[in-house]
Amino acid sequence: MKETFYITTPIYYPSGKLHIGNTYTTVLCDTINRYKNLRGFDTRYLTGMDEHGQKVQTVALELGKTPQEHVDDIAEDTKKLWNMLDIQYDDFIRTTEKRHKTIVKQIFEKLLDQDDIYLGEYEGYYCMPDESFFTETQLGENHTCPDCGRPTTIVKEESYFLRLSKYEKRLLDFIDKNPDFITPESRKNEVVSFIKQGLFDLSVSRTSFDWGIKVISNPAHVVYVWIDALSNYISALGYGTDDNSLYEKYWKGDEVIHVVGKDILRFHAIFWPIMLMALDIPITFKLYAHGWYMMKDGKMSKSKGKVVYPEPLIERYGLDPVRYYLLRELPYAGDGVFTPEDFVARTNFDLANDFGNLLNRTINMINKYFDSNLEKPKPSNSSFDEELIQKTQDTVLAFQTNMDELKVAAAIQEIWSLVSRTNKYIDETTPWVLAKDEDKKVDLQRVMYNLVEAIRHIGILLRPILLEASEELFKQLNISEHLQTWESLKWGELGDIEVTKSPVPIFPRLDKETEEEYLTNLLNNKVVPVKAIEEDLIDISDFAKLDIVVGEILECAKHPDADKLLVSKINTLDKVRQIVSGISAYYTPEELVGKKVVVIKNLKPVKIRGILSEGMILAGKNKKDLEVLSVNALNAGDKIS
Ligand code: MSP
Repeated sequence: MKETFYITTPIYYPSGKLHIGNTYTTVLCDTINRYKNLRGFDTRYLTGMDEHGQKVQTVALELGKTPQEHVDDIAEDTKKLWNMLDIQYDDFIRTTEKRHKTIVKQIFEKLLDQDDIYLGEYEGYYCMPDESFFTETQLGENHTCPDCGRPTTIVKEESYFLRLSKYEKRLLDFIDKNPDFITPESRKNEVVSFIKQGLFDLSVSRTSFDWGIKVISNPAHVVYVWIDALSNYISALGYGTDDNSLYEKYWKGDEVIHVVGKDILRFHAIFWPIMLMALDIPITFKLYAHGWYMMKDGKMSKSKGKVVYPEPLIERYGLDPVRYYLLRELPYAGDGVFTPEDFVARTNFDLANDFGNLLNRTINMINKYFDSNLEKPKPSNSSFDEELIQKTQDTVLAFQTNMDELKVAAAIQEIWSLVSRTNKYIDETTPWVLAKDEDKKVDLQRVMYNLVEAIRHIGILLRPILLEASEELFKQLNISEHLQTWESLKWGELGDIEVTKSPVPIFPRLDKETEEEYLTNLLNNKVVPVKAIEEDLIDISDFAKLDIVVGEILECAKHPDADKLLVSKINTLDKVRQIVSGISAYYTPEELVGKKVVVIKNLKPVKIRGILSEGMILAGKNKKDLEVLSVNALNAGDKIS
């Protein structure tokens, strides 16, 4: 049976759009989750929204909405963002859902019944935006909130309390016996010394607002944020319901990881395990607390307008450069700074130059020296080859170790070290010199094979990180699915090679000045004209070069040697032309006969798997569907412009 793996993000406050800081956590978890999937684990990835609290109520009022309408809108926006980032979550929990509220009510009553929660009175310094009480010693200057720096007010009210002090010793023992419960080590030490100072019982209910889960036995109180929020990790698994199979499988499974930002570590490292001890639920999770993305001049702050949102970055640069930057720039145990210069440099140097160029150069050489086809060579022993092979194997291991320890930035560095080594291999073996000497053809063949084999390994390791580029890499190298798996990470698994005849660079180089200026304006919230990157623009005369007409499909059949291809005979009036298209997963030949489709006539004819193709049928595509463009009123040969 497969080992299980359950990973969670914090649930986000619906206090507005999510910025690249919160987005980071979700991308990080997505990458780890995809990695575990690649390794063959049975994974479950949970994210969601933390939708109760006074602040939500206040913001909704300001917007003229009910709190429910407000959180519905934000949840919708958040899901759209995760879609845009291609986040593969399995469940999206919202604390306003019935499945969650029922469990929180039960948990609260149980803790109350067994006297782990008692009624008292709370007086403290309260920061409304952060929804947190602080003791006097924790406050900043002039009684300001130690987290956000805004003023606090003294609030006194009846409140239920969770007995943290009762569990202090047990918690310290637990942390001691489970040395990897909290990582990084430095954060664990902070938690331990905090506990050792002595824990105050925690206020867990409020009477001053009502946007929350009502306490069953005393409805004047709503459950205060942390018992509500933390329970999401098990309510989403059906804990305490008739169908708790997910809870049994994943919570009690092999590996459970909560990824949190450093600011909420304490809640997860102290309150949550104590809640679980009191509820007699096993503490199966491990915590990883990451640092923060900062701006050059300090914390990201919505109120000060110093904040970066992911959407405009993705729209302008694409998904992969954004994912890459976020994952690569934040060190394992520290903070990172988002700067325009670094963003452009990472995209240009790491992605376009080092990685993109390696792929492009390799394909171009195989086209030039071997007309895109290369047989698998006999193994040989040149020292350059051995070094490259060794480095590739070492990289797989180093990548795995780092990923298993959640050191994603370091794991990415390992891949790039192999990218550099592979580029160096080209310099060492000088294929352009080998190509001049017919006797060196076998050497040249071996060098090309080794390059593709190293790049294939790089592509597999990149699958959890660069979603589109890794797919494109396999496509351009024509690498079949069974050679894209973790199990296929063995040197020499690759057979004969047939690369694309028309390689496209996967990462265009950015113009440094333009893009740094664009990003600086974006960071300063200046209105930025939406302008595509120069290299993507074409002139109308470029478009006019295409000869596009209506073609009527007269005959269609499956390609004899390739499952994915169809071969059509199409009347374009000037002649009946034969076109090969990769659409057989979406259409049967019978469905296509009689269709009037859109055809590019003046593409250079090519042989595709041995069959001549004289043009291209246009089709639109998304992740699920492909649809051939077709017309009704027009006739074969009619021009399209
Ligand atoms: N609702 C609570 C979490 C409850 S979990 C049971 C919460 N929400 S939050 O929306 O304020 O923050 C969510 C996450 O975003 C936290 O892990 C926080 O550390 C993270 N980040 C917020 N700003 C960040 C950066 N600038 N950089 C990196 N992460 C940041 O807290």
